[in-house]
Amino acid sequence: MSSTNENTDKATILVVDDTPDNLIIMSNLLEDKYIVKVANRGEKGLKIARSDSPPDLILLDIMMPEMDGYEVCELLKADPKTADIPIIFLTAKNEVDDEISGFTLGAVDYITKPIQAEVTLARIKRHLTIKMAQDKQRATAEKLRNQLLHLQKVSSMGQLTAGVAHEFNNILGVISGYTEISKMILEDIQDDNCKDDLGQNLSAVEKGVKKATNLIQKMLVYCNQHDLNEIKKMDVKSTADIINDVLSTLDATDKAKTTLTLSSCAKNIEIDSTALNQIVTNLVNNAHYTIKDIPSGRVEISLQMTQLDELHCAACGNEISGSFIKLRVSDNGSGMDCETAAKVFDPFFTTKPVGDGVGLGLSVVSGIVHQSNGHIIVDSTLGEGTIFKLFFPI
Ligand SMILES: Nc1ncnc2c1ncn2[C@@H]1O[C@H](COP(=O)(O)OP(=O)(O)OP(=O)(O)O)[C@@H](O)[C@H]1O
Ligand SMILES: [Mg+2]
Repeated sequence: MSSTNENTDKATILVVDDTPDNLIIMSNLLEDKYIVKVANRGEKGLKIARSDSPPDLILLDIMMPEMDGYEVCELLKADPKTADIPIIFLTAKNEVDDEISGFTLGAVDYITKPIQAEVTLARIKRHLTIKMAQDKQRATAEKLRNQLLHLQKVSSMGQLTAGVAHEFNNILGVISGYTEISKMILEDIQDDNCKDDLGQNLSAVEKGVKKATNLIQKMLVYCNQHDLNEIKKMDVKSTADIINDVLSTLDATDKAKTTLTLSSCAKNIEIDSTALNQIVTNLVNNAHYTIKDIPSGRVEISLQMTQLDELHCAACGNEISGSFIKLRVSDNGSGMDCETAAKVFDPFFTTKPVGDGVGLGLSVVSGIVHQSNGHIIVDSTLGEGTIFKLFFPI
């Protein structure tokens, strides 16, 4: 039923009729099953239909003073906000011409007065069922349209990134080649001061090249996520070993702030070890970044089995259910507001200062997870922390 009537599952029906007795009869007939709103004038009916709690269906009398039912119907159908509300005309007349005019204007049915209770209820029920199915269809179409737009955006980002990354790779090759040559020439320079200065400059160039190469690497991984799919399952290592590999690269302080809990019944995630390493590395790096200035900062990683009834994966727009291996990475860092959390899987979205982040980590993670038929969910509370939950089907 309409989302504006959240407090109840009952549909709302608006009855527009200028005869008070008719409004009473209809209310008595409908109020057990539905929320009933009434209007004794066309204008009033329009106001209710255009309100923030629009009805799910309108029963509309034709013969009314000031504004008749046809005019009300025409105005409702012309307004995108009310155009999809089904209208059933109520009329004392039983003229074929009236029915044709009503259907032409967009009404879904016609009920003649005096009404027959059973028939009226059956017709209303039928039209509400059709409306619900149409609403669902529209919502699904909207969701698919948004998914398609997102995919198009990500795909064009991928093409752009690939182009930029390859060009930069070539340029970096030239820079590091000439740096090497310059270092060789440096060996022959006799002036010690000049040698030191140039040596320092060349080291700075090398450092910059290293940073840029790392960045290009990230961009290339982002563009080549499909390759990871092809090697999936060919190099399956124990999931615990892969997580421990990542943790072994942390410095002592970060390691001390990290705990790993492996449930005894947790199965291994069937995914290439390089891909899983990349997933864990990105999530753990992000978590440590957010707790770096918090003395009591903690990062918790866990692996367990879980059964899902129904869960919405915002990253791919699908509802998921069934048995999964759940990888959870949580921190008690800065957390995010809803707006930020909604963008974390977008390529190049970052809130980190230049040099600290490119904004590709989580889009790579999301890409790999979904290519492995898994899903990723982020729960974050500003000021409290963040939980990333990854679900891999068994
Ligand atoms: N654990 C977390 N806590 C708070 N914010 C987070 C967390 N993980 C991710 N974010 C937010 O999501 C953004 C995107 O993360 P992502 O890993 O994709 O890129 P990044 O870390 O900024 O850069 P990089 O490409 O180096 O990973 C981050 O900039 C940050 O704003
Ligand atoms: Mg990151």
